[in-house]
Amino acid sequence: MNSSAEPSPLLRVLDRGRWAPSGDNMQVWRFEVMGPHALRVHGFDTRSHCVYDLDGHPSQISLGALLETLALAASEMGWSLEEARRLPESPEEKPVFELRFDPDAACPPDPLARAIETRCVQRRPFRTRPLNDGEKRAMEAAVGAGYSLLWLEGAATRWRTAKLLFHSAKLRLTLPEAYEVHRDVIEWGTRFSKDRIPDAALGANPATVALMRQVMKSWGRVQLMNRFFAGTWAPRIELDLLPGLGCAAHFVLLADRPAADIDDYVAAGRAMQRLWLSATTLGLQFQPEVTPLVFARYAREKRVFSSVTSCLPRAQRVKERLEDLIGQDALARAVFMGRVGEGDVPTARSLRKDLAELMHKP
Ligand SMILES: Cc1cc2nc3c(=O)[nH]c(=O)nc-3n(C[C@H](O)[C@H](O)[C@H](O)COP(=O)(O)O)c2cc1C
Repeated sequence: MNSSAEPSPLLRVLDRGRWAPSGDNMQVWRFEVMGPHALRVHGFDTRSHCVYDLDGHPSQISLGALLETLALAASEMGWSLEEARRLPESPEEKPVFELRFDPDAACPPDPLARAIETRCVQRRPFRTRPLNDGEKRAMEAAVGAGYSLLWLEGAATRWRTAKLLFHSAKLRLTLPEAYEVHRDVIEWGTRFSKDRIPDAALGANPATVALMRQVMKSWGRVQLMNRFFAGTWAPRIELDLLPGLGCAAHFVLLADRPAADIDDYVAAGRAMQRLWLSATTLGLQFQPEVTPLVFARYAREKRVFSSVTSCLPRAQRVKERLEDLIGQDALARAVFMGRVGEGDVPTARSLRKDLAELMHKP
């Protein structure tokens, strides 16, 4: 690393890149500087301990978001990202990317770069004012060639989407493997978290958060609540149904052809990040809704993803609901899903690890 007081331009690019989003704020990347304009990104996925990432695809989307953010941050210096190559010999669970920037490109700063640090997930309900044509066209243009957006709009469609999320959340809240993920990624009693999700950013009111904090102390308590106190109802209404209704639209990011491998998911992550930054630039709030897609994929691949024996038939029902909503062809090409709309800027958010902590340690 540069030892002078002023960080090198490349370190400034990396510092901005840190703000890329990742599932559960896992920051699945480490950086290795290879020269003044060259670096390696050492990626990893969380398949060993995250039930939502068993195929690594959510982490691969996050890595794509990182690459796009680095390219945008570099554009602010007039640099272009000349090459972003995955080393074919690197394992899929720990992919390594080699990036080379052209400092003489004199390219104009990409306007999306301005939103790198303000882009942020909002999990609370938004306003229902429909998106106007200008907003839709801007987001459709942002995803770029090879991708398109399917909009799920209007009160009746939002209601169907909200119900899908409500059902998918029941599966989420009754799996011990998902409980372990949620327990580990929530930082309690705070509005900001460097390496997790602060409880104040979950989107629940303070009483629900206090209850969740007590119940989530053990899986036994969660099971007791679920069994005798309809424990999944309150969080599902507050965190899935109401936000599902409270938005301008849900969207599905579609690839022109079904994503088949890690490179396809990384490319999809780049498109997703441009979409999210475009929404931020338009002053819109945004929340990913990825778990129904994950469960639908598990159902399609017949992947047993939990010790709970009913997990597959229940995932199959999520898949059928999603198919009813968007159609078979779209589901096969869907790489990301979420909701968007006008709303309040969050007052709590995930921060990021310091750059020094994100440097690769062989
Ligand atoms: C691939 C991916 C999947 C995500 N899935 C969800 C999700 O299903 N629900 C949700 O509320 N947030 C989801 N997020 C948002 C992350 O939790 C969020 O980006 C991260 O905690 C960092 O916070 P920030 O975006 O506010 O900086 C996802 C993000 C990514 C990149």
